[in-house]
Amino acid sequence: MKAEDIKCIGVMGGGTMGSGIAQTAILAGYKTIVRDLRDQLCERARNTIVDGRFGLKSGVERGKITQAQMDRAVANLSTTTKVEDLKNCDLIIETIGLTETTGATSERKAVWLESKPLKLEVFAELDKIVKKDAIFASNTSLFTIADLAKAVKRKDKFIGMHWFRPANIMKVVEVTYTADTSKETIQILKGICQRFGKTAVLVKDVSGDTGFVGNRIMWAVREEAFKIVREGIATKEDVDTVMTLGFNWPAGPFTRTGIVRSDDKQTRYADLR
Ligand SMILES: NC(=O)c1ccc[n+]([C@@H]2O[C@H](COP(=O)([O-])OP(=O)(O)OC[C@H]3O[C@@H](n4cnc5c(N)ncnc54)[C@H](O)[C@@H]3O)[C@@H](O)[C@H]2O)c1
Repeated sequence: MKAEDIKCIGVMGGGTMGSGIAQTAILAGYKTIVRDLRDQLCERARNTIVDGRFGLKSGVERGKITQAQMDRAVANLSTTTKVEDLKNCDLIIETIGLTETTGATSERKAVWLESKPLKLEVFAELDKIVKKDAIFASNTSLFTIADLAKAVKRKDKFIGMHWFRPANIMKVVEVTYTADTSKETIQILKGICQRFGKTAVLVKDVSGDTGFVGNRIMWAVREEAFKIVREGIATKEDVDTVMTLGFNWPAGPFTRTGIVRSDDKQTRYADLR
């Protein structure tokens, strides 16, 4: 199989990342099926793609795409709650997660959660249903790709595809290969990223759920930033000011959502402020 043979993409999970990924895929001309658990979630994904802040309509309004491009993209999109509808897809991008809301009403925060047992369960299900030569890619932020590949027989066709948020805007994708991922699968993923308008950075998979390149670096930065605040050296705002004005960072370490806890089973994200 070659990159040109990929015609239909299945996106498992139509949340924040899944809708951005699906938007990228439909604009690049791929028939794309988004699967989520309930009709309302499928509808939410469609609304995000069409009417969302970074959606297609806003792209037309800002002159980034034409109305004709938007219409063609929308025609490429379908949604489903039935996993069987993905059976003929050539590539599945898994981007499932759970969003929890924590805290008292006055200080409610969204906490994004990724669960390894859930991803393993979903990949095992997909392996039975989706055609044997389809490639499986996981958008996990941290989990070791070879661990997730244990759920499937097609280990040569299993790969990491880590996007950044907003997925349809950010220009890089970390493509993580295991010892079993075939050269063909890597080439196909690189070709697809190119057609998506993304730069693919190849990353070697390692054990220990360490994350790939971007999150490892950001994690180290945040550890130091928290240490500075804990030691009373400067406030969070001051740390952000130094990094934005001093190093021209677009945002400081505290202005973004970050990974706040990770273990073998799950990763939690939250607003750091
Ligand atoms: N949010 C980020 O910045 C970011 C960045 C890179 C990677 N990721 C990874 O992407 C994944 C999704 O993150 P998100 O922010 O889009 O989460 P989200 O909570 O916005 O969306 C996850 C979606 O998955 C759906 N889902 C759960 N189980 C499912 C199943 N069995 N089949 C189909 N859909 C299912 C949920 O209903 C939800 O709509 C996580 O693994 C996360 O680590 C997130």
